[in-house]
Amino acid sequence: QKIYVGIDVGGTAIKVGLCNENGDLLHTYEGPTETNKGTDAILENIAAYARAIVAESSYEWEQVGGVGVGIAGFLDIPSGYIKFAPNLKIRDVNLKDYLEAKLATKVLVNNDANVAALGEAWAGAGKGIDHCVCYTLGTGVGGGIIIGGKIVEGFAGMAGELGHIAIVPDLEAIQCGCGKMGCLETVSSATGIIRMAKDAVERGDRTTLAQVTDIMAKDVIDAAKAGDEVAMRIVSRAAYYLGRSMALMAVVLNPECFIIGGGVSKAGEFLFEQIREVFEKYTQKEAKDGVKIIPATLGNNAGVVGAAGLILRS
Ligand code: BGC
Ligand code: NA
Ligand code: ZN
Repeated sequence: QKIYVGIDVGGTAIKVGLCNENGDLLHTYEGPTETNKGTDAILENIAAYARAIVAESSYEWEQVGGVGVGIAGFLDIPSGYIKFAPNLKIRDVNLKDYLEAKLATKVLVNNDANVAALGEAWAGAGKGIDHCVCYTLGTGVGGGIIIGGKIVEGFAGMAGELGHIAIVPDLEAIQCGCGKMGCLETVSSATGIIRMAKDAVERGDRTTLAQVTDIMAKDVIDAAKAGDEVAMRIVSRAAYYLGRSMALMAVVLNPECFIIGGGVSKAGEFLFEQIREVFEKYTQKEAKDGVKIIPATLGNNAGVVGAAGLILRS
């Protein structure tokens, strides 16, 4: 039996999964992304965790049919070259060549959010749906577009970089990790939510968040759910720009559904309702009829399943 290794390289953790040819997850493994130790350390982490998961499973390396990797950054997808990964602080390195040399198997590299979208479309919330747009709300805002069951990569691998849609008006915009102003990611990622909360506390706004020492996105969401007005404003702002961006996507691509995953999506219906309301308001009836905005179902595993799927679906 062949097995496929899927690796999801995120800003804080590298997740690895073993899948069979149906996208069933057989085994998982997770290790830290040693971002502060630089590019070489991260590359070594990836190779080491790939070996480790197979070693601790009941399978042999010889059964590996290939390794798929999703990584948070701008890539030349066919060659597996990382041009720039803002949240990992990696520039100009060929990940595919490195891993093929280290692991002696076929390696395919794609964007982390594209891969999560493929996972959801293959075995998750989008199962059986041909056209969907997925958002992952984590350290950054990732995007993945699946049309006709395939990842849309675009001319230079930049299709689906939804986190970098410049959507916040200039007067309110701040600079994104990518260098540009007003990206969706600056307000709708966990990082953005935390920043807005810290700003509010520093400004002296009246909020229960002032008592929290190391504010996490979850603290902000919990405070909002508990009725803290400052926290509510922050979460609404994150939801507002997500909804606006979906209204754009709806008339550009007319997907059947929007799938939202990543840590922030754990806020659940509280967040989804606000997004749907904005989407409703700004989207033409014909472009929104029958269109659903739903949570991802593979949770943290969408990336590893989709990464394994890269090999199987190529
Ligand atoms: C990166 C994307 C990535 C996303 C989620 C963004 O900052 O530009 O490539 O998919 O974060 O990790
Ligand atoms: Na993407
Ligand atoms: Zn940006």
